[in-house]
Amino acid sequence: MNASAKSILITGAGSGIGRDAAFALAALGHHVHATTANDAQAEALRTECITRQLPMTVFRLDITSADDRALAAPLELDVLINNAGVGESGSLADVPIERVRRTFEVNVFGTLELTQLVLRGMIGRRRGTVLFISSIAGRLPVPFLMPYSMSKFALSAAGAGLRAEMDQLGAGIQVALIEPGAFHTGFNQAMTARKYEWMATGSYFSGQTARLQAAEARQFGLLEAASTRSIVKLIVKAALARRPRLRYTAPWVQGLGVRLARIFGA
Ligand SMILES: NC(=O)c1ccc[n+]([C@@H]2O[C@H](COP(=O)([O-])OP(=O)(O)OC[C@H]3O[C@@H](n4cnc5c(N)ncnc54)[C@H](OP(=O)(O)O)[C@@H]3O)[C@@H](O)[C@H]2O)c1
Repeated sequence: MNASAKSILITGAGSGIGRDAAFALAALGHHVHATTANDAQAEALRTECITRQLPMTVFRLDITSADDRALAAPLELDVLINNAGVGESGSLADVPIERVRRTFEVNVFGTLELTQLVLRGMIGRRRGTVLFISSIAGRLPVPFLMPYSMSKFALSAAGAGLRAEMDQLGAGIQVALIEPGAFHTGFNQAMTARKYEWMATGSYFSGQTARLQAAEARQFGLLEAASTRSIVKLIVKAALARRPRLRYTAPWVQGLGVRLARIFGA
């Protein structure tokens, strides 16, 4: 490991963007703690590390578990990448609130609890970078994905607010937001499908499920980038920057679309 190698912990690294970012950072020679939601994912990731000959420390860190979060306390981390996330969909008019609460439990509260724990060490050492993987759905409300979209609005607000607070503290802590557009990791399909577990009966939109499903499939079919390369590149850039920007978004065209929509009042 070279002298400038950083110690980096990434959550939700068992799949998708998190796994790809973990391998990209490990390939650059950094010491990556790739943490996963469960033991099965950790086992699979360890095997993949051996196959790819890219050493990483792999362990389960369910961010909603205080015992699991405590595993991060003794690590002298330079960078925390809060990537773990879940998605729930459905109309706010009738989505079971327990599903909304669970989404916030992972995407907001678990993420913040882990961040607070890691910040303690970083502030003591007077250096460190915290990244939040939010979403463009945290900048524009997405109908029928609002449980997820609201949680990402909260996360984007948290990242921007924490950054200003850390600047005022003057302890050398950097905070940045990664706000991906749509990427084909399977996350969007699982999230959109989840509402059909309960919507078929007793929803105001029960009669519209076929139309909704077709529209979602069309929308993600058009929007999703096949490869995570562009977003992983930005995660690596933000993680290693001396002074990262507040926000990073890819694919760039979706980022531009969001900025324009916000200018025009969405
Ligand atoms: N793909 C997109 O289009 C897109 C767009 C914008 C933002 N994002 C964000 O990017 C991040 C990564 O998403 P992805 O697309 O790569 O999907 P993904 O493959 O499902 O990655 C999310 C990972 O987080 C894990 N996770 C869930 N709950 C957890 C918990 N309590 N503790 C630890 N890990 C947990 C998941 O494990 P399980 O598989 O067991 O749930 C999964 O491995 C998420 O925060 C997502 O919101 C994705």
